[in-house]
Amino acid sequence: MIPINMPILGGEEEENVLKVLRSGNLTGRVSEGGMVAEFEKLFSKFLGTKYAVAVSSGTAALHASLLALGVGPGDEVIVPSFTFSATCNVVLHVGARPVFVDIDLDTYTMNPNEVKKALTSKTKAIIPVHLYGHPADMKPIKEAAEEEGIYVIEDAAQAHGAEYSGVKVGGIGHLGCFSFYPTKIITTGEGGMVVTNDDELAERVRMIRNQGEKGNYETILLGHNWRLPETNAAIGVAQMKKIDEFLAKRRRNAAYLTELLGSINGLVLPFEKGAVRHAWNTYTVRLENRRLKRDDVVSLIRKLGVGATVYYPVPVHQTPLYKERGYSNVLLPNTELASKTVFSLPVHPSMTKEDVEAVALAVKRSLDALAPSP
Ligand SMILES: Cc1ncc(COP(=O)(O)O)c(C=O)c1O
Repeated sequence: MIPINMPILGGEEEENVLKVLRSGNLTGRVSEGGMVAEFEKLFSKFLGTKYAVAVSSGTAALHASLLALGVGPGDEVIVPSFTFSATCNVVLHVGARPVFVDIDLDTYTMNPNEVKKALTSKTKAIIPVHLYGHPADMKPIKEAAEEEGIYVIEDAAQAHGAEYSGVKVGGIGHLGCFSFYPTKIITTGEGGMVVTNDDELAERVRMIRNQGEKGNYETILLGHNWRLPETNAAIGVAQMKKIDEFLAKRRRNAAYLTELLGSINGLVLPFEKGAVRHAWNTYTVRLENRRLKRDDVVSLIRKLGVGATVYYPVPVHQTPLYKERGYSNVLLPNTELASKTVFSLPVHPSMTKEDVEAVALAVKRSLDALAPSP
């Protein structure tokens, strides 16, 4: 099976982890010149932001960002529903109310016009998600936020290295959040990063990840233990040396897959909309042929040895937790359509030319086999 994503781990990762184990210093808490500090330095340089603060997961990055901005009970946060649940769960965790908006079907990211319609006097923040690696339309979102004095937290968990108008995503809003889960562009096993250009916000995130302490045992804020272990950062340091190569290979594979799939009737291929650079965390297509069932197509492709995967079959607002909290009547037509019709294909950097050809062939064969006879 060609998996949907697969981390590339080699000698440098092993060497770095061994260095940490041999040093006996496993936590970034006390190591000024350790792997966490090095990982942060490499990541902020790559992103072009003043600060990068490493945390224990992408979820912790989002949660810490909301806490750093002081978002809490009585506040509303605008989020897409077509995303991984963590984007929305963190809003509930801080006691604020997620307000769901619909997506643009070309990019699967939040529609800026819907964002404008959802603004109220209670809106405190907007969380655009750069889903699958395609940047959300940041210019109108940022303009709407600036007009109203609202914060923007980018969920760039799937979009390391993606660009919007020449700027890497994550560095466009007040805060940007990344995940290093093994299916992401680079991995640390589990891990996350918050990036920002704001001195005070960076300092607050740093305190929040470490029990709210400023100095040693000087608790200023209510924080957590969201520190990234040195062993994880050691993997991240090695991965950062390869990130440009990973992105170039994903880009090459995506372009070849587009060329091979050509124009298949009823299958909408992903593309870069506007002045953006996709990170191609997945190659996500949409089935427009209503006579075919998406799940049948996906299971046939999988039988042919290609790990086609559905992200996300249920929009967050329709999951049991959110229904219980009163979101069942929210209408998001594009979100609902996407959740029923998209599926993702692999374009990860360890794939060969032959692998990409196998993916295209499996898709074509499955669609042909399932097409109703005339
Ligand atoms: C869009 C999105 N947001 C947030 C997260 C949460 O990241 P993590 O799994 O590292 O907590 C993920 C990761 O799966 C994600 O894809």
